[in-house]
Amino acid sequence: MKYQVTIIGSGPGGYVAAIRCAQLGMKTAIIEKYNTLGGTCLNVGCIPSKALLDSTHHFHDAEHTFKEHGIDIPKPKANLTQMIARKADVVKQNTAGIDYLMKKNKIDVFHGMGSFLDSTTIQIDGKKKETITAENVIIATGSKPANLPFIKLDKERIITSTEALALKEIPKHMIVIGGGVIGVELGSVYARLGAKVSVVEFLDNLIPNMDTTMGKELKKSLSGIGFEHYLGHKVTAVDRRGKNVTVTAENKKGENVELKGDYCLVSIGRRPYTDKLGLDKAGVQVDDKGRVEVDAHLRTNVPNVYAIGDVVKGAMLAHKAEEEGVLVAEQLAGQKPHINYDLIPGVVYTWPEVASVGSTEEQLKKQDRAYKVGKFPFKALGRARASMDTEGLVKILADKQTDEILGIHIIGARAADMIAAGVTAMEYRASAEDVSRISHAHPTYMEAVKEACLDAAEGRAIHS
Ligand code: FAD
Ligand code: NAI
Repeated sequence: MKYQVTIIGSGPGGYVAAIRCAQLGMKTAIIEKYNTLGGTCLNVGCIPSKALLDSTHHFHDAEHTFKEHGIDIPKPKANLTQMIARKADVVKQNTAGIDYLMKKNKIDVFHGMGSFLDSTTIQIDGKKKETITAENVIIATGSKPANLPFIKLDKERIITSTEALALKEIPKHMIVIGGGVIGVELGSVYARLGAKVSVVEFLDNLIPNMDTTMGKELKKSLSGIGFEHYLGHKVTAVDRRGKNVTVTAENKKGENVELKGDYCLVSIGRRPYTDKLGLDKAGVQVDDKGRVEVDAHLRTNVPNVYAIGDVVKGAMLAHKAEEEGVLVAEQLAGQKPHINYDLIPGVVYTWPEVASVGSTEEQLKKQDRAYKVGKFPFKALGRARASMDTEGLVKILADKQTDEILGIHIIGARAADMIAAGVTAMEYRASAEDVSRISHAHPTYMEAVKEACLDAAEGRAIHS
C-alpha cells in the first residue's frame, strides 16, 4: 500500500496528526504496536491517572469533609479493585473513541511494531509482516519511564507509573523517587487511601520545573495528607527483600537516610522511545539525549520525515504533542501554522491543583527582567470558603514598565481549568490591568486571578 502520510505511534501526537492529515485530504495510515490506540496518555498516562485521582478525591472528601458539610455516613472503606476497574473502563471508552475517529476519518490502522526499511518504506511487524510506503512519515513514538542504572525495576514492588496505575493493594508505605509531576500525582492517589508516602527528590523543591512558590505551597498541602518529603536528597541504592523495599538516599551534608517501605515508585522523568524503529536505516539523526532531532518545522534531517511529541525536545505533555501533530499536518498541506511554545500550560492534578503558563519568577530573575508580582490567596475568596477549598493562591508576574502579564501561576481548586483563561489573556498580550478590569462572575475561583492582577497592576486587591 502507498500512503501520502504514515504516522508511527498513536498517542495524542500521532492520532491527532492522523486526523488532521485526513481532514486535509491526505491518504493516511497510522501504526501502533499495542492493541489499543491512544498511546501513553490514554492507556497508562493522563486519563487513567486522572480517573484514579478523581476516585480518591471523592474518597478523601467522604472521609474528611462530608461531616462538616452535614453529610453523616459510616466511615467509608476504599475498594481499590473497583477503583482500578472503573479506571480500566474509562480507558476503554477513550481508546474506543479513537478507533471510532480513525474509522470516521478513513485512516488505515495497522497494529504492530513499525520500523523504517528506508526513509519511505515502513515494515510492520504485527500478526503478519507487512510493508507500506509513504511519501511522508511522522515519527510519534513517544516516551517510556526513565530509570537509574542501579535500580532494578521488578515491576511488582519497584515500579513505574504504569504499574502504579494498577496496584492490587493499597501500599502501607510507598517511597517515591522523584518529586515531579508523576510523583506528586500518583503519590496523592495512595496517600488519600491511607498510605504513608515518602518523596525523595534530588532538588530542593517539589515540582521543580514550576515557579518555586507552587512547589512550596504544594508541599504544605501534601504534608496534610500524609506525605513526608526528603528534598535535596540523592538516591544511591534501592534494594528489595521479599515484600520490603529499602531506599537509601544521601542529603547535602553527605549523610545517609534509609527508608523502608513496601513499594517504591520510580518517577524521575521519561526518555524518548525510538527502540527498534530503524532510524539508522532511514538516516534520521537523534540528539545527545536520544530525542529525534528536528528543526523549528519539526522536520528531521531527512526531508520527508517529521517527528512530534515526547520523542522530540520540549515539554512532555499531551497537548504539546497534539499541537505538533496539527502543525506538521497543516505544513504538509501547504499551510503556515505556528505554535507558541512559551504559552503551553502545565498542570499538576493534585489537590489543590497547580497550573501555570509563561515565565516563572526564577526565569525572569535569570533574564534580568524588571517585573512585579501580584498575589491573591484562595482563603480570601468567598467561593473557596463555600466549598471548603481554601488552600492555595494565584501569583501573577507582570512586566514592571508595560504591565504585560509574563507568567500566571495558580495553586488551588480547579486551577487546571482556570489556566485556559490565563493562556488566552497572554496569547493576546493582555496587561494585568486589562484582566483586572474584566468582569468576572461572582462567586467563582477565577475572581482570585482578577484580584491577583489588580494586585500586580496597582498594588491593591479588593478583598485582601
Ligand atoms: P505517546 O502517548 O507515548 O504515544 C506513542 C505511541 O507510539 C505509543 O502508543 C507506543 O506504543 C507507540 N509506538 C512506539 N514505537 C512504536 C513503533 N516502532 N511502532 C508502532 N508503535 C510505536 N500529559 C498531559 O498533558 N497531561 C496529563 O495529565 C498527563 N498525565 C500523565 C500521567 C502519566 C502517569 C504519564 C506517564 C504521562 C502523563 N502525561 C500527561 C504525559 C503524556 O502522556 C505524554 O506527553 C503524551 O502521551 C505524549 O504523546 P505522544 O503522542 O508523543 O506519545
Ligand atoms: P518530572 O521530570 O516531572 O520529575 C522528575 C523528578 O525526579 C524531578 O523533580 C527530578 O529532579 C527528580 N529526579 C531525577 N533524578 C533523581 C534522582 N536520582 N533522585 C531523586 N530525584 C530525582 O518527571 P515525571 O514525574 O517522571 O514525569 C514524566 C513526564 O510525564 C513529565 O515530563 C511530565 O511532563 C509528564 N507528566 C505530566 C503530567 C501532567 O501534565 N499532569 C502528569 C504526569 C506526567
